[in-house]
Amino acid sequence: MKTTISVIKADVGSIAGHGLAHPALLKKCEEILGKAKEEELLIDYYVTNCGDDTELIMTHTQGEENEEIHEMAWTAFTEATAVAKELKLYGAGQDLLSDTFSGNIKGMGPGCAEMEFKERPSDPVVVFCCDKTEPGAFNLPLFKMFADPFTTAGLVIDPSLHNGFEFEVFDVMEHKKVKLSCPDEMYDLLALLGTINRYVIKRIRRRDDNEIAAAISTERLNLMAGSYVGKDDPVAIVRAQSGFPAAGEVVEPFAFPHLVGGWMRGSHNGPLMPVGQKNAYPVRFDGPPRVMALGFQIADGKLVGPADMFDDPAFDRSRAQASEIADYMRRHGPFEPHRLPADEMEYTTLPGVMEKLGNRFEDIE
Ligand code: F6R
Ligand code: MG
Ligand code: MG
Repeated sequence: MKTTISVIKADVGSIAGHGLAHPALLKKCEEILGKAKEEELLIDYYVTNCGDDTELIMTHTQGEENEEIHEMAWTAFTEATAVAKELKLYGAGQDLLSDTFSGNIKGMGPGCAEMEFKERPSDPVVVFCCDKTEPGAFNLPLFKMFADPFTTAGLVIDPSLHNGFEFEVFDVMEHKKVKLSCPDEMYDLLALLGTINRYVIKRIRRRDDNEIAAAISTERLNLMAGSYVGKDDPVAIVRAQSGFPAAGEVVEPFAFPHLVGGWMRGSHNGPLMPVGQKNAYPVRFDGPPRVMALGFQIADGKLVGPADMFDDPAFDRSRAQASEIADYMRRHGPFEPHRLPADEMEYTTLPGVMEKLGNRFEDIE
């Protein structure tokens, strides 16, 4: 039997402003997923939120991109939207770009990471959920996890990881993809991954046997809708231990609160702060961007857990450093590189300003 893990997420409303998904939304989603479990469509589920995003973590045997699973997730989000509208929550239904489901949730607004595998005797999995950032935020930590020997000791000293991993990278602007293997093609890979708003890691596989190691949501809501409808806060699924990076190697890259795009109005660079579930609530200047890590053991499809992996005092200094970086970046106000470059800003007054100032521009002699 193969097990599928599907993590499907959407922002369908929050308090106060774009802050925190209301518990009534999670309850409604739990109701729908509970019914699907009773009907044996799902084996198990866990509903949570990271900031204003509601996450459905589900296990089943239907494989990736299954219509029934996607439709059930869509129903959960539309019913949660009805609750959000009753409570006049902020941004009720903001990520649902269509009125009707059309076979696959991809391209309809929600973000989606899925993987199917034959369970090992013991299969630890970490689900990462972010708020106020974009899928490229995972490029740096995933590269370090699966290709940097200074992060993952196993790449050097464990024969089962020693041959390295293959990265599938999406060009989200051109809708193209490319596969690059590490360590051989590391420099080519890094040449792409550094452009975080365009090239994003979609999947990682172990080279020895092509076994799936990681899957990431790569939806870019703003590109799909044509105009800004919300930041495409990403999720990722990572398998750990016995031939994959150890759980501690999987979380280690997040000890460095690297700069990512997002934060206020999806238009600012800021540090990605690793937090426990109780602090997955970005407030200051609508941020700074957050990431949480939920660890599960998969047992015949059952989700045993979660362990709240960033709720560890060993990450306190990373959080303090993130706050310090947040202070430093904020002092730039509307100046780059705190504010994103004009072509990446999702709210922009620039065309209007340029139109207004049009005939006041003069040639420089
Ligand atoms: C960023 C985000 C928030 C909003 C901001 C303004 O991804 O969701 O920072 O952009 O709160 O929101 P509106 O335009 O809805 O008032
Ligand atoms: Mg929102
Ligand atoms: Mg969000």
